Amino acid sequence: MDAAGAIDVAAIRSRQVLLVVSNRLPIVLETAPEPRGERKHALVARPGSGGLVSALLPVLRHRGGTWVGWAGLPTEDGQEREVAQAQEQASGEFGFALQGLPLSGAEVRDYYEGFSNRVLWPLFHDLPERCCFDPAYFEAYVGVNERFAEAILACGSADLTWIHDYQLIGVAAALRARGVLSRLGFFLHIPFPPPDLYLRLPWRFQILRMLLAHDLVGFRTLPDRSNFIACVRRLLPEVKLLGRGHLVAADRIDSGSASAPPGAQARIGVFPISIDDAGYVKRAQTAVVRDLAQRLRGNFPPDRQLILDVDRLDYTKGIPERPRAFDLLLSQHPALIRRVTLIQVMVPSREDIAEYASLKAEVDRLVSQINGRYTAPGDWVPVQYVYRALAHDELIAWYRCCQIALITPLKDGMNLVAKEFCARSVDEDAVLILSEFAGAETQLHGGALIVNRHGIGSVAAALYRAVRMPLDERRSRMRRLRRQVASGDVSWWVNAFLRAAIAKDLSDFPRTDDYVPTDAAGYSTV
Ligand code: UDP
Ligand code: G6P
Repeated sequence: MDAAGAIDVAAIRSRQVLLVVSNRLPIVLETAPEPRGERKHALVARPGSGGLVSALLPVLRHRGGTWVGWAGLPTEDGQEREVAQAQEQASGEFGFALQGLPLSGAEVRDYYEGFSNRVLWPLFHDLPERCCFDPAYFEAYVGVNERFAEAILACGSADLTWIHDYQLIGVAAALRARGVLSRLGFFLHIPFPPPDLYLRLPWRFQILRMLLAHDLVGFRTLPDRSNFIACVRRLLPEVKLLGRGHLVAADRIDSGSASAPPGAQARIGVFPISIDDAGYVKRAQTAVVRDLAQRLRGNFPPDRQLILDVDRLDYTKGIPERPRAFDLLLSQHPALIRRVTLIQVMVPSREDIAEYASLKAEVDRLVSQINGRYTAPGDWVPVQYVYRALAHDELIAWYRCCQIALITPLKDGMNLVAKEFCARSVDEDAVLILSEFAGAETQLHGGALIVNRHGIGSVAAALYRAVRMPLDERRSRMRRLRRQVASGDVSWWVNAFLRAAIAKDLSDFPRTDDYVPTDAAGYSTV
């Protein structure tokens, strides 16, 4: 806003336009029962969880643009109007446009739960035994990716259409088949498997070709990109690959009847995703978060060390191993009884998929076994178990009041929780325990205690070391971690991608704060 309080319309009009496309919108709509029973459904919006949403939300919140995605609810006949209204309301609250794409129950089953989460997700996370290669799933995947392409076309032109993650690998190919020549970027938020694993995919050629329909394909780590290039070399030997540095170029492949213009290239790069570090540090210091952290901490004696374990309830995260390691710690070191508590926050995820439901049952059982074994009435409860998504401030408050974070995925994209925990550690007195198979390990190994993903013994030993770690060692490790996280935050990630994709950066997308009121920490207040 200018000095007189008027909105600078010219600045808004001249803005570059960013179109973000992901399977999920940054909100999830849920049906809530109406308390007085007048209407059949009332839809409530809650913020989505997951690293993709956490990374991109601050970008669109500050720079504006459009986000195309699904609102997380199978849309059955008659509910479209309510969904559209709830999305419109959320758009107003966020300060950027949300363009919803409804999915039917069958699409949710075959495209989302099926091909996305019972084929690509387990295969790319090195768990082929969990895959179900049903051809109907692939058919639905292609169909929904085409519907996304249509929804993007309906949004009008954008300076960059930035497509995200494994659910939408086929969108660019569908756009190219519809004659789209404009810039299309893609970022994969999960690992890319090595050739021996990737070759098990019955649709291996199609998926590689779909990826090569983009102008830029981004991976989180160098090993992911090397795996992708090795797969291209092995399966598509006719594709020329040029260069070895930051960006490797391949021939672009446009699918269907369309063929790529002569010389068109798909560039392939590495862009380690990160967090809104400054936003986290600011937020962690606000009175709201400080008070909340004090209230949470006040439930425990001052000398109790709190170990935080926060994750989406996913079988890639190695969740049951953590209460098991905690149990081992207590049995090996009974002196720690009453001196440590495990705060286990599990965010419900993909509950309609059988593997996720049985994982939940396993975690419930383990937690109740440990609590049953050690709890005395009115006394210490060793594991405090929370099964819901936390609001942003509540999550940061837990980050602030826990001394140790236990992050031990079997295989993970980046793991933003690890970075968020370091950003929150304003007193630099906390310890991060991290698995060698978290994507974040490549950046955080200098300050974290690194553990083996399968070794409960190794995790228990790291917990023992963390609990007893002297303050000066905690400080020097955490200082190193915080420097590392701050050196490449989410703006750095977005800038690196935008420069590679369209030779522009965030300064070409001026901040929208001038016309979207925000609080001291930069969060929209509308
Ligand atoms: N998160 C959240 N609410 C919660 C727990 C986690 O919003 O109750 C967020 C957290 O801040 C983080 C993201 O979910 O940014 C999880 O990202 P991560 O990369 O660690 O794992 P993913 O879920 O993407 O596999
Ligand atoms: C990971 C994936 C995201 C996904 C998120 C939550 O972060 O990389 O694409 O959105 O998990 O999973 P969900 O299936 O609930 O969208």
